[in-house]
Amino acid sequence: MGAKVIDGKAFAADVRARVAAHVARLKEEQGIVPGLAVVLVGEDPASQVYVRNKHASTIEVGMASFEHRLSAETGEAELLALIDKLNADPAVHGILVQLPLPGHLNSELVINRIDPAKDVDGFHISNVGLLGTGQKSMVPCTPLGCLMMLRDHHGKLAGLNAVVVGRSNIVGKPMAQLLLGDSCTVTIAHSRTKDLAEVCKRADILVAAVGRPEMITGEMVKPGATVIDVGINRIERDGKAKLVGDVHYDSAAAVAGAITPVPGGVGPMTIACLLANTLTACCRANGLPEPEGLTA
Ligand code: GUN
Repeated sequence: MGAKVIDGKAFAADVRARVAAHVARLKEEQGIVPGLAVVLVGEDPASQVYVRNKHASTIEVGMASFEHRLSAETGEAELLALIDKLNADPAVHGILVQLPLPGHLNSELVINRIDPAKDVDGFHISNVGLLGTGQKSMVPCTPLGCLMMLRDHHGKLAGLNAVVVGRSNIVGKPMAQLLLGDSCTVTIAHSRTKDLAEVCKRADILVAAVGRPEMITGEMVKPGATVIDVGINRIERDGKAKLVGDVHYDSAAAVAGAITPVPGGVGPMTIACLLANTLTACCRANGLPEPEGLTA
């Protein structure tokens, strides 16, 4: 037996192509160009790579990209003033403030200053509340990407047992809300869960988002289950740098029905969903129908 490998790279390319086609139609029929503003404070090397990739992908799908790079010493008032300006700018439909912010800045205050309708990360407290109560919201990109892949693989998710390992605000909690929204029976497990292996083994859908390299092994996977690995961990093995997920791939793939690899699984879906969210925000702002299959 061998699990079907869910190709996140190909899936993300398809999402980007669908976004690009919709953007082209918006331009031609309505004269509207969706715009995404990304704010980076400081010089964190990983954040710089993310922001560069976001800029390139935004341009590639035909959207306008507005990059704001501020020095690491930027004060809160200055950052909030920039967000106010972007909130008021009709050419900007999505705003993303790259995290983590330098320590002297209050991330919650900054994120909650973004107009919830432009909060394409889905981190604003209003969007968190809307998602939690099953109302229309902006949905965090990584869990949205996982949901798209699960819907594609399973069709309907109703009635399936889903276990989400990890309780972060960015992935674990919104992932659980989305699965509940699709009528799964949802368990949120975490590092302190008793009998984690037994809990995981009940899952038809197992989402690993704990940030611990290869923590979920094949013995914890129900035969035939779908395993979604959100982890991206840099480790050293045999003297070489290696990227691994939160799932021990080889042992899990021997048992699972389907599995996402690392790299090439969930990772590429995050930026694709950021673009999808920007398109959705633009359509909503203009009172136009939302893109089909690109929202929760
Ligand atoms: N830093 C790492 N991932 C993310 C993300 O998805 N959104 C934001 N705003 N910052 C990040």
